[in-house]
Amino acid sequence: MHLLNTTGMSREQLEQLIEAALRFKSGDNRSRPLIGKSVALVFFNPSLRTRASMQVGIYELGGNAVVLEPGGTSWTLEHRAGAVMDGDKTEHVAEFVRVLERYCVAIGVRTFAALKDWNEERTDPILNAFARYASVPIINLESAMHHPCQSLADMMTIREKLGAGRKRVVLTWAWHPKPLPMAVPNSFALAAAQMGHDLVIAHPEGYELDEELIEQLGGVEITNDIDAAFSGAEVIYAKSWGAKQFYGDAARDLATRAQYRDKWIVDEEKMARTNDAIFMHCLPVRRNVVVTDAVVDSSASVVIDEAENRLHVQKAIMASLLGG
Ligand code: CP
Repeated sequence: MHLLNTTGMSREQLEQLIEAALRFKSGDNRSRPLIGKSVALVFFNPSLRTRASMQVGIYELGGNAVVLEPGGTSWTLEHRAGAVMDGDKTEHVAEFVRVLERYCVAIGVRTFAALKDWNEERTDPILNAFARYASVPIINLESAMHHPCQSLADMMTIREKLGAGRKRVVLTWAWHPKPLPMAVPNSFALAAAQMGHDLVIAHPEGYELDEELIEQLGGVEITNDIDAAFSGAEVIYAKSWGAKQFYGDAARDLATRAQYRDKWIVDEEKMARTNDAIFMHCLPVRRNVVVTDAVVDSSASVVIDEAENRLHVQKAIMASLLGG
């Protein structure tokens, strides 16, 4: 009933959602299953695409979006079971969720990793607290470990641009001036593997993704050689992420990654080694840091279509969860 990640979903289920999103995009499906209904969108962190596309998607499905920002436009939230709430948290997720579901048919949640404690954050504690107390669907709008709405839009974009079937898809780490969460690379890698793509993950030594997630991917190729990774690629998906051993110590991560600044960037020279690959990024992207202007502004870049597809995929997700 929840959409927390794509773990356990079959390729057929992912393809059904993509097909449904394509029907919303083409206008073949103009249904409005949310007429008279409200969906809560809870943002612990900033957003452009997710917030705007969810609000627009809910409106286009006939519904009403209730946007809440804990600690800003709503009370600060505690999520730990058994917490003694004598600190700065005013309300517990237990009440927050059970009150909201008296008004709303679903709750979307954005809650990033704080990059402080890997062992705790890899379990997605805040998102799972919402799911524990909810009797309406919880939709993950990017948690510490997963961003399924993004990865479904990514798979839809690959399908639109390159057609159905197995593609050589390269997920490459990129240098960035601060450590970032792993949700996007985790979900992209998982969905690419579930869709049967030939997946290569390129990152410097020390920037491995979660071991349990890698096990779920099956026979993925992992390399520390960015130049070799680009050869023959049909999709280049760039994303930076923090090293899990440096959660809680950003300074060590930054000192370690400094050596990769000039090498781990997507530029024209690397793109020239691909098999006419499309360039993808979830956005926001730091120009001339993660990718050069020449690449992100080239005809190979599909980042704006990818962002548009968030709207169609999320309409498909909401119609699937709430349409009945
Ligand atoms: N890609 C993505 O989720 O964008 P926002 O952070 O702007 O929502």
